[in-house]
Amino acid sequence: MDPKLFVLYENEDWMPPLRRELERAELPYEEWFVHEGSVNLGEEPPVGIFFNRMSPSAHTRGHLESADLTRAILAWLEGRGRRVINGSRAFALEVSKVHQYEALRRAGLRVPHTIAVVGGPEELKRAAHKMPLPFITKHNCGGKGLGVVLFWTLEEFDRYVHSDGFVPSPDSVMLLQEYVESREPFINPCGDRRRGVFICGPGRHEPRVSALSFRPLRDGRRLLSHDGPSSSAGRRKL
Ligand SMILES: Nc1ncnc2c1ncn2[C@@H]1O[C@H](COP(=O)(O)OP(=O)(O)O)[C@@H](O)[C@H]1O
Ligand SMILES: [Mg+2]
Repeated sequence: MDPKLFVLYENEDWMPPLRRELERAELPYEEWFVHEGSVNLGEEPPVGIFFNRMSPSAHTRGHLESADLTRAILAWLEGRGRRVINGSRAFALEVSKVHQYEALRRAGLRVPHTIAVVGGPEELKRAAHKMPLPFITKHNCGGKGLGVVLFWTLEEFDRYVHSDGFVPSPDSVMLLQEYVESREPFINPCGDRRRGVFICGPGRHEPRVSALSFRPLRDGRRLLSHDGPSSSAGRRKL
């Protein structure tokens, strides 16, 4: 069998541009949708180059298992000496903000103070007492702003962790993080509105909007607030 490119993926939306380019380049490739399946360690992987495009937000599309299966596949491919683009080291970084912050810190970049918490409400509340206010929560594994909620008081946080609105990170690691106030106190929706809103600075194509603090999005996410007490004393700007 001639070698080809194998594309490991989970998010169908990311595929059309890649397909177009691979076809234009006339490269032989095969798509490998990774969700449920098996890895037979008694067999050799096919011959080729493997391109891992697994998404850390796979669980939001009903594919919670995809990341674990990807890890197993990558171990198998790398163990047999196959060339992998976005191999297990890159993937470990992709699915963990803790890994990302440590990599950034090692590279000399400042990152907001962060506590990673595994455990239920009591563990979260214990960790919250060590955080300066305000702080945010964030999923260790995710993307799209999953789990990002801003808290101005510990009471609000206590209520949140006991509420139905609390959604744990798919890897059970919840981050508590120092709130970094944006230099420009507004948010601007841009990008593909069907998939949500990216929070960013002033855009060229969109009118400015005032802060849409905690505006619930249809898929259950919340938009980060820039409202709150007017005093910004004690808050650090990156
Ligand atoms: N420490 C923080 N302080 C203030 N806003 C934050 C902070 N961390 C994240 N945000 C806001 O939440 C968004 C999503 O957070 P991010 O760390 O980029 O996670 P994701 O992987 O979900 O994109 C950011 O674009 C930013 O607007
Ligand atoms: Mg982001």
